[in-house]
Amino acid sequence: MNQTAPMPAQAAPESAASVVALIPRINIHAFCEEQSTAASIQAGGSDRRMSKAHLDVHLGGILAAIQVYQQQQTPDVLIIETKKSRDEVMSELGHLAQVCEPTTKVIVIGQINDVILYRDLIKAGISEYMVAPINEIQLIELIAGLFDDPEAEPVGRVMAFVGAKGGVGSSTIAHNVGWYIANKLASDTVIADLDMAYGTTGLDFNSDGIQGIAEALGAPDRIDQVLIDRLLTKCTDKLSLLLSPGSIDREVKVEKDALETVLEVVRKSVPYVVVDVPNIWAPWSKHTLAHADDIVIVSTPELASLRNTKNLIDHLKTVRKNDQAPILVLNQVGLPKRPEVPPAEFGKAVGVTPSYIIPHDAQTFGTASSNGQMVFEVSAKAEGSQQLVALSEKLTGREPQKVASKIKMPAILDKLKGLRKK
Ligand SMILES: Nc1ncnc2c1ncn2[C@@H]1O[C@H](COP(=O)(O)OP(=O)(O)OP(=O)(O)O)[C@@H](O)[C@H]1O
Ligand SMILES: [Mg+2]
Repeated sequence: MNQTAPMPAQAAPESAASVVALIPRINIHAFCEEQSTAASIQAGGSDRRMSKAHLDVHLGGILAAIQVYQQQQTPDVLIIETKKSRDEVMSELGHLAQVCEPTTKVIVIGQINDVILYRDLIKAGISEYMVAPINEIQLIELIAGLFDDPEAEPVGRVMAFVGAKGGVGSSTIAHNVGWYIANKLASDTVIADLDMAYGTTGLDFNSDGIQGIAEALGAPDRIDQVLIDRLLTKCTDKLSLLLSPGSIDREVKVEKDALETVLEVVRKSVPYVVVDVPNIWAPWSKHTLAHADDIVIVSTPELASLRNTKNLIDHLKTVRKNDQAPILVLNQVGLPKRPEVPPAEFGKAVGVTPSYIIPHDAQTFGTASSNGQMVFEVSAKAEGSQQLVALSEKLTGREPQKVASKIKMPAILDKLKGLRKK
């Protein structure tokens, strides 16, 4: 094949428009060289299939992108336009790789219809290469395809929060983490409240929307993206809630398979699913913990919590042999007059060191709870708020501001280095 052999033809836009899947609730950023490319992408943003995604279009190409992502994290999808030659493109992408999150899918728009460049880019981990001028429907189809592929990793991580005992603060911590990821780390998040009778998500967010989780579990055969979308209560721009009835009038039967389907559907459309698992030991709660991507156990420094935490950790070790140990949070530490097990001894006894220690702080947590606010809004400086920021960053691997030198070279783009040497 000679050097300028054209790439395989791209699909005809007319045929694509009607069958393109919806694009999930993801962040898409574009850095264009040409005003006309920026305009096409912007026009694509107003298509109904893009209605859930957050699109930001800028000019300046790769160099502007590198500058921006030295200061902030890369989005779920990054579209880069370049007018450079093959070697220059590969070299500039090598620099971009140093500031690019490993999970970001990169689409390159170029000027050259060249199959060798196309193959080099795909080999280097670039998700797709398009030749300008682009068609907005082709672009939408391409982005949808990145997430619709049954072989592709699901968009979202499921993070289960569970208390070692009733009332330890597991829901409070789950809600604050979900809020922080959505509002400060700018990634779409759904909080699913599995505490049917006593759930506090509606109260904590001052929201009395539809009892989404109960409706979904009541119609297991109909659970799909469209149904879940109807059952989500929007809380902020990037935070949605799957609320429980929070009432004893309605008995909701929770089947583990139906619940698994609900969570699978939700995680197909948002990057983070925070699951508030109540302190109930039932087939569905065990199943949810066994299958979550991350588990946060919230405990208090006392004997009953310690025993239950140890039992939970031992159980999870047997059902999740190849996973990391759960994250342990010790909450309400230093409650006046209560005899407590010191964190180090607690960690030794349960076999997992507590990663976050949150003091008992009735002022901050009590005010947040009675006002339907998050602790960050009541007092960002409080130790509890800072611990929850650290937990949110640990779970997402993200920080609101980051320093370029700290960023790991993504494995996929690492290969660029090797390619450039050839
Ligand atoms: N660090 C803390 N300091 C003071 N109060 C706290 C702290 N953490 C949580 N609380 C308070 O403890 C109470 C119980 O919290 P929460 O409902 O989150 O617990 P839970 O573990 O989800 O309980 P349940 O078993 O009912 O689901 C709430 O009033 C909350 O504001
Ligand atoms: Mg709770």
